[in-house]
Amino acid sequence: MSPAPGPGPRWLLFSFGVGLVSGSRCPNGCQCQDQEVVCTGAQLKEYPPDIPLDTRRLYLNDNHITFLPAMNLGLLSDLVYLACSNNRIGEVMDYTFIGVFRLIYLDLSSNNLTSVSPHSFSMLSSLVQLNLSHNPHLSSLDKYTFANTSSLRFLDLRNTGLQALDHAAFQNLPTLQTLYLSGNPWKCNCSFLDFTIYLIVTHLDYPDGRNATCVEPAELAGWPVAQVGNPLRYMCITHLDGRDYLFLLLIGFCIFSAGTVAAWLTGMCAVVYQSARRRPSEVDEDDEHGQRMSVSRRVFQSRVGVGQDGFPQLI
Ligand SMILES: *[C@@H]1O[C@H](CO)[C@@H](O)[C@H](O)[C@H]1NC(C)=O
Ligand SMILES: *[C@@H]1O[C@H](CO)[C@@H](O)[C@H](O)[C@H]1NC(C)=O
Ligand SMILES: *[C@@H]1O[C@H](CO)[C@@H](O)[C@H](O)[C@H]1NC(C)=O
Ligand SMILES: *[C@@H]1O[C@H](CO)[C@@H](O)[C@H](O)[C@H]1NC(C)=O
Ligand SMILES: *[C@@H]1O[C@H](CO)[C@@H](O)[C@H](O)[C@H]1NC(C)=O
Repeated sequence: MSPAPGPGPRWLLFSFGVGLVSGSRCPNGCQCQDQEVVCTGAQLKEYPPDIPLDTRRLYLNDNHITFLPAMNLGLLSDLVYLACSNNRIGEVMDYTFIGVFRLIYLDLSSNNLTSVSPHSFSMLSSLVQLNLSHNPHLSSLDKYTFANTSSLRFLDLRNTGLQALDHAAFQNLPTLQTLYLSGNPWKCNCSFLDFTIYLIVTHLDYPDGRNATCVEPAELAGWPVAQVGNPLRYMCITHLDGRDYLFLLLIGFCIFSAGTVAAWLTGMCAVVYQSARRRPSEVDEDDEHGQRMSVSRRVFQSRVGVGQDGFPQLI
């Protein structure tokens, strides 16, 4: 609680602060000028240290960077433009861009992205252009990925491994204008229906629309995803395919056989009931019908006898 004696810790903190703020140095192999740092093709293996803190535009493209450190990136709170295309970045985490919330342009194309965490872009409410193209191992995007990027206007999802998208992911993009979707193995099954309807009703601009086609199922292969909504709706809602007919046939057969069995059982019951009712009188009438009849009658009578005899004993 007593004030810190001497200049020790405070001085350290102060000099650390000065060191950060006065970062007027420029990373090796980069050019720094007018709040712009250009490290294009500088053979960087990792995110460079010593980037001036007032940087507004940062070019890291055409290097071998595998990871964007959130801590260092977060120091650049004025950053509006970040180009990282053609690197080896493998994943983007929830907190990677947490400090660069003024970002307007983000290019992560031609990397090795396998996953993008659902909240990675959740702080980027000023983001206008996002490029995730040419990441062939990127196979899915969460439905919350674009939940807070409400200023987005250009979205490039070309040449990834995406097979499907959830239309809910696009609900909070009122200003989206241009969407690139070509070169993906789109799987146009019924789960994809809502997204294809969205593509029809929003009237976005699809510059590569003709090349953004379904790969599966075979009946829809080659259809542009921006136009496949109607045939897909027909297939999923009104149309019965081979399996449905088989199912109906099976149901029909089951009902038919159940009915047949029921009718047969009813018939059997009726016959048994009738013969059982007729038997006593028949037995009385003709006693000469053979030994079997009489034997069975004797057995029946003797059983009844035992029952009548034994009953009182048990009680
Ligand atoms: C996204 O990046 C790719 C590859 O780097 C590039 O060809 C494409 O033009 C970019 N998309 C946009 C919308 O700028
Ligand atoms: C890209 O990612 C895959 C899967 O994570 C990995 O096997 C591969 O080595 C990576 N390629 C590069 C060039 O880093
Ligand atoms: C969007 O931003 C708000 C406020 O910053 C935050 O509370 C919310 O969790 C964010 N949503 C997502 C999906 O990240
Ligand atoms: C459609 O394909 C996607 C991606 O493979 C899969 O997750 C989904 O279960 C499929 N939906 C239907 C209805 O077959
Ligand atoms: C579609 O793909 C073909 C062949 O890959 C290419 O020549 C053409 O420029 C592409 N068109 C668009 C609009 O991207």
